[in-house]
Amino acid sequence: VISTPAAARKDGSEFPVEVGLNPLLGPSGVRILAVIVDISQRKAMELEHARLQEKLQQAQKMESLGVMAGGVAHDFNNLLTGVIGNTDLALMALPPGSPACVNLKDIQRSALRAADLCRQMLAYSGKGRFITEAVDLNAAIEEVLQLLRASMPRSAQLHKLLHHRLPSFRADPVQIGQVVMNLLLNAAEALVGEGGSITVRTGLVEADTTYLDSLLVHENLAPGTFVFLEVEDNGIGMDRLTRERIFDPFFTTKFAGRGLGLAAVAGIVRGHGGGIRLDSRVGQGTRFRVLFPCEGIEGAGSSPALNLAGGWRGFGRILVIEDEPVVRDVVRRTLEGLGFEVSLCTDGEEGLECFARRPRDWSLVLLDLSLPGVGGEQVFQQIHDRRPELPVLIMSGHDQALIDERFQGLGLAGCLQKPLRPQGTGQPAAGAAGRLRNHRRPGAGRP
Ligand SMILES: Nc1ncnc2c1ncn2[C@@H]1O[C@H](COP(=O)(O)OP(=O)(O)OP(=O)(O)O)[C@@H](O)[C@H]1O
Ligand SMILES: [Mg+2]
Repeated sequence: VISTPAAARKDGSEFPVEVGLNPLLGPSGVRILAVIVDISQRKAMELEHARLQEKLQQAQKMESLGVMAGGVAHDFNNLLTGVIGNTDLALMALPPGSPACVNLKDIQRSALRAADLCRQMLAYSGKGRFITEAVDLNAAIEEVLQLLRASMPRSAQLHKLLHHRLPSFRADPVQIGQVVMNLLLNAAEALVGEGGSITVRTGLVEADTTYLDSLLVHENLAPGTFVFLEVEDNGIGMDRLTRERIFDPFFTTKFAGRGLGLAAVAGIVRGHGGGIRLDSRVGQGTRFRVLFPCEGIEGAGSSPALNLAGGWRGFGRILVIEDEPVVRDVVRRTLEGLGFEVSLCTDGEEGLECFARRPRDWSLVLLDLSLPGVGGEQVFQQIHDRRPELPVLIMSGHDQALIDERFQGLGLAGCLQKPLRPQGTGQPAAGAAGRLRNHRRPGAGRP
């Protein structure tokens, strides 16, 4: 059997064939029987198989690297807490003029930079802790651009084409800032000479399965509407080998690069259930498009118009610590429907971290009693010690009397009985409800 690469159809288009030649001995001598088989379908299947195989390998590589990066970063972060904490203590203990202060401050600076690296690695692993809220992508871009003003090459032109009615989507605002920052920095670093330009776009895209298939990073995304961020530059561009490795941690082509920027971007996008599309050619520039699902979210900044509590509206920021996704979702929808801003945390440790990040910002804490790891009682104690006046409501399936007994005299604002219902059968204790309703934004006066 020999094979020729292709045969031609009547219309001139080519297709792959396989040709078999069989010698037949007959009375009039040898004849050749040629069998020509159209193998275009088989070839297409082989190609598809190879493509899927490669995709699978890529996914496996990303996952195992993610596990490693996440593990190292997690332990390393804890070690750094010791270094940074003790340096702080030592600085406090020393008299201000001590010559050792200079060294300690150097240690502190290096440790803080190492902590930043850890954050990038955690982000890559997709395990960086999320505090999700409704994020306005345009606002996030403006914020990062403010920060980056000094790092942008002076000769570079920056064009902003931001969709003016972009819906918000649920995300960790710090991590979204990290994505914007890394893409913009890379674009700025890719520019050469005069005439460099960077375009930042935002918009909405209806993605079907074919479109989703063309994405580089994506985890079983379902077709639907996505919010996108696009950063395009007319810089050096990338060849195929570079394009294949850009998301690998520590892959860099730059003299002073660390190779963690895009690794972090990939992790964050995966963690948010999004995708990345890349178009880049050597010498012709690069375009990154990052997509985030925006399902079920209304216009930027607006809350879904639920008519709860007879039109009563509240404001303030509520911290919800609950490990059960369904409950979290119901609580969030209900509270956002009433006009509150909501931050969701999935366990006690994360809740405490989130609380400590801006302890004075919270108006109320809703806390599940039975949490994995650091339990509800401990979380309550720590929050209450730090801000005794902040109302904390326990959500629990336990008997109300049991909760009253356990928290007697500890300053708990009240208890919401599970199953919770938005229209309010599980009413907070009268005192807490009163305090919740009376809460005002700082500056708006506190009755
Ligand atoms: N806009 C771009 N144009 C050309 N090449 C790019 C662009 N963005 C990324 N790359 C390529 O991808 C590589 C990896 O990017 P990544 O952001 O992960 O690391 P880095 O920029 O080299 O270092 P770091 O961001 O950690 O300081 C870069 O070194 C560069 O080769
Ligand atoms: Mg970078």
